[in-house]
Amino acid sequence: MIFQSTRMTWNIRVRFSLAFCILLMSAFAITAQNKPKEETKKFNENCLKCHGQSKYKYVNPESGAEVTKRMYLETIINRNEFYDSNHKTFKCTDCHSEDYDTFPHPGRLRMEAKYACIDCHGGDEAYAKFKFEQIETEFQASVHSTKHSDDFNCWMCHNPHTYKINARSEEKIKDIVAYDNAICLNCHADITKYQMLTDKVNPNILKTHAWLPNQALHFKNVRCIECHARTNDSILVAHNIQPKAKAVHRCVECHSTNSILMASLYKYKVQEGRSKAGFYNGVIMNEGYVIGANRNYYLGLISLIMFGCVITGILIHGSLRIIKRKK
Ligand code: HEC
Ligand code: HEC
Ligand code: HEC
Ligand code: HEC
Ligand code: HEC
Ligand code: HEC
Ligand code: HEC
Repeated sequence: MIFQSTRMTWNIRVRFSLAFCILLMSAFAITAQNKPKEETKKFNENCLKCHGQSKYKYVNPESGAEVTKRMYLETIINRNEFYDSNHKTFKCTDCHSEDYDTFPHPGRLRMEAKYACIDCHGGDEAYAKFKFEQIETEFQASVHSTKHSDDFNCWMCHNPHTYKINARSEEKIKDIVAYDNAICLNCHADITKYQMLTDKVNPNILKTHAWLPNQALHFKNVRCIECHARTNDSILVAHNIQPKAKAVHRCVECHSTNSILMASLYKYKVQEGRSKAGFYNGVIMNEGYVIGANRNYYLGLISLIMFGCVITGILIHGSLRIIKRKK
C-alpha cells in the first residue's frame, strides 16, 4: 500500500513537471513567435527606408543625380507602432505585392485587391476566441456598412500598420477607452477622412453631445461604442454601430445597479452580482465612481432600517399625542 501511494505521488510529480515543462515551452514558443525576426526587419527596411519617415531619396536613372522628395503623409509608416502591432511579424510583402520592390512603383499595383481580415482569420482555430465570423456579421449590420457597403471595410478602423488588441490585454480601463475612442475620432473629428466616404458635413462631436453633462469626463471614462453599438454577449467588442436615433440617451442606462457598462466596457472583469462587501458592480467600483451604479447592499439596508425606525417613531409619537389630546 505504502509503496503504491509513494509511486502514485511520484507519478503525479512526474506528470506535473512534464506539464510544467510543456507550459514553459509553449510560453517560449509564443514569445518567440510573436517577436519579429531580424531578417524580417532587415527586409522591411527596403520599404521603410522610404516609407519610414517624411522624406525619401532615389537616383534618377536619366540624369544619375540623387533626388530627395517629401513622402506623402498617408504613406508614412511609424516603425515603432508597426513592430508593436498585431501583425508585427509580417513582411510588408506578406500583404502587398512583391512588385513594390521597384521604384517608381508600377501603376497597375494601385488596382491590386487588398486582403480582408477574414481571408486569413476566417475558420482558423487559433483565432476562434476572437469570433471573426460573428464580428463580420455584426459589422455588416452596422450603419457604416449598410450605408457604404464595400467602401467601408475593417481596415478603416483597424489601421493595417498600427492596430493592436487592447480591450482584451490592457488592464487600465482609461487606456482602453482612449485607444478605442481614438479609432472613431479618426474620422468623426477629421473632416477630410470623413468626407472620403460621404458629402455630408461632419457634425461636431462636442456640439452633438452637449446634452451630456461633464462631457470631457464622460469621454475619458466610457467608449463611443457603449452608447452607439448594440451589446452582444458572445463577442468582447460590440461591432454593430446603430443609427443615431438608437443611441443610449438615458442616464440610468449606466447610472444604475444594472448598468449597461457591466455588459460592455467591464465585461471581462465582471464578477457576478453583488460582491462580498455588499457592493453592487464591484468591478466598476475599482475603476471609478459611477453615480447610482456603485450602491452598497448593506448601506442600503441600514438606511432602509433607519428610515423604517423614523417612520415608526413618528407614528408612535403621533398616536401618543392623539391619545393624549382625546384624554
Ligand atoms: C524609393 C522610395 C520607395 C521605396 C523603396 C518603396 N516605396 Fe512605396 N511608395 C513610394 C512613394 C513615393 C509612393 C507614393 C507614390 C506612388 O504611389 O507611387 C509609394 C506608394 C506606395 C503604396 C501605395 C500605392 C497606392 O495605392 O497608391 C504602397 C502600398 C507602397 N508604396 C508599398 C511599398 C512597399 C511594400 C515597399 C517595399 C517592398 C515600398 N513601397 C518601397 C516610395 C517608395
Ligand atoms: C497585415 C497586412 C499589411 C501589412 C503587414 C502591411 N500592410 Fe500596408 N496596407 C495594408 C492594407 C490593407 C492597406 C490599404 C488600407 C486602406 O485601403 O485603407 C495598406 C496600405 C499601405 C500603403 C498606402 C497607404 C495609404 O493610405 O494610401 C502603404 C504606403 C503601405 N501600406 C506600405 C506598407 C509597408 C511599407 C509595410 C511594411 C512595413 C506594410 N505596408 C505592411 C496591409 C498591410
Ligand atoms: C495576410 C493575413 C492576415 C490578414 C489580412 C489579417 N491578419 Fe490578423 N494575423 C495574421 C497572423 C498570421 C497573425 C499572427 C501573428 C503572430 O503571431 O505574430 C495575426 C494576428 C492577429 C491578431 C492578434 C492575435 C493574438 O492572439 O495576439 C489580431 C487581433 C488580428 N490579427 C486581427 C486582424 C484584423 C482585425 C484584421 C483585419 C483588419 C487582420 N487581422 C488581418 C494574419 C492576418
Ligand atoms: C467602426 C470601427 C470598427 C470597424 C469598422 C471594425 N472594428 Fe473591429 N474593433 C473596433 C474597436 C473600437 C475594437 C476594440 C479595440 C480594442 O480595444 O482591442 C475592435 C476590436 C476588434 C477585434 C478584437 C476583439 C477582441 O475580442 O479582442 C477584432 C478581432 C476585430 N475588431 C475584428 C474586426 C473585423 C473582422 C472587422 C470587419 C468585419 C472589424 N473589426 C471592423 C472597431 C471597429
Ligand atoms: C473611416 C471613417 C469612420 C470611422 C473610423 C468611424 N466612422 Fe462613424 N461614420 C462615418 C461616416 C462617413 C458616417 C456617415 C454615414 C452616412 O450617413 O452616410 C458615419 C456615421 C456614424 C453614425 C451614425 C450617425 C447617424 O447619422 O445616424 C454613428 C453613430 C457613428 N458613425 C459612430 C461611430 C463610432 C462609434 C465609431 C468608432 C467605433 C465610428 N463611427 C468610426 C465614418 C467613420
Ligand atoms: C453617453 C452616450 C454617448 C457617448 C459616450 C457617445 N455618444 Fe454619440 N450620440 C449619443 C446620442 C444619444 C446621440 C444622438 C443625439 C441626437 O440625436 O441629438 C449621439 C449622436 C452621435 C452622432 C450623430 C451626430 C449627428 O447629429 O449626426 C455621431 C456621429 C456620434 N454620436 C459619434 C460619437 C462618437 C465618435 C463618440 C465617442 C467619442 C460618441 N458618439 C460618444 C450618445 C453618446
Ligand atoms: C454610457 C454610460 C453613461 C451614460 C449614458 C451616462 N453616464 Fe454619467 N458617468 C458615466 C461614468 C462611467 C462616470 C464615471 C466617471 C468617473 O469614474 O469619475 C460618469 C460620471 C457622471 C457624473 C459625475 C461627474 C463628476 O464630476 O464626478 C455625473 C454628474 C454624471 N455622470 C451624470 C450623467 C447624466 C446626467 C447622464 C444623462 C444625461 C449621464 N451621466 C449618462 C457613465 C455614463
